Amino acid sequence: MLKVENLYASYGREDILRDVNLEVLEKETVAILGPNGAGKTTLLKAICGLLKTRGRILFEGKDISGLKTHKRIALGIAISPEGRRIFPNMNVRDNLLITGFKNLEEVYEIFPRLKERRDQLAGTLSGGEQQMLSIARALMFKPKLLLLDEPSFGLAPVIVETLSETIHKVKDLGVSILLVEQNLSLVAEISDRIYVLSGGEIVDEGTRRDIERIEKSYFT
Ligand SMILES: Nc1ncnc2c1ncn2[C@@H]1O[C@H](COP(=O)(O)OP(=O)(O)OP(=O)(O)O)[C@@H](O)[C@H]1O
Ligand SMILES: [Mg+2]
Repeated sequence: MLKVENLYASYGREDILRDVNLEVLEKETVAILGPNGAGKTTLLKAICGLLKTRGRILFEGKDISGLKTHKRIALGIAISPEGRRIFPNMNVRDNLLITGFKNLEEVYEIFPRLKERRDQLAGTLSGGEQQMLSIARALMFKPKLLLLDEPSFGLAPVIVETLSETIHKVKDLGVSILLVEQNLSLVAEISDRIYVLSGGEIVDEGTRRDIERIEKSYFT
């Protein structure tokens, strides 16, 4: 589904990502772990076409590395970005419709809570509901691949459980997920495979069974 080959990315002169290789298979959920500043957000942006890259990004076998962001979205890649980036002064419905897609009823079916709150200003939603909205907005594009950047950030543990249910619903739709996440118990619960990114390079990889080893090696 997604294959990243020998990817380099920079905002200016210095490469932030160096020789990154990774793969997300159909219906797989793959997590990127790594310390602050490792380049995790940069990697997701590079996949969306938001910065300068060298190397290849293949999506369903097609090299998309030269395509503009809107073309990548049209092919089936959507992102729920770091910090959620919802529009606080717009209501829930308009936050979804601003995508220009009309997939509203389907998305409301997945998130009945957002349907209930459709007239509420997004900035007055709880943190967990705002995260739900950010994911729901990405689903308006009917993506085949969803990029999620730190969805659990700032959420209380009990809300992370709801988030986990939300992500399971997305998986059940058959959507592949590439996830940046620091909450390792969430990662263990939803991911099939893991890559560790450090200093802009992939330094380790494994399956969910390797989480304990990876946690001991990099996060203690
Ligand atoms: N717009 C930008 N212009 C220049 N440098 C940037 C820009 N955005 C990020 N960087 C730099 O790129 C490096 C990687 O940043 P990135 O945001 O990808 O890290 P991250 O792994 O997502 O970190 P965090 O866990 O804190 O979100 C950092 O050194 C950062 O300062
Ligand atoms: Mg980040």
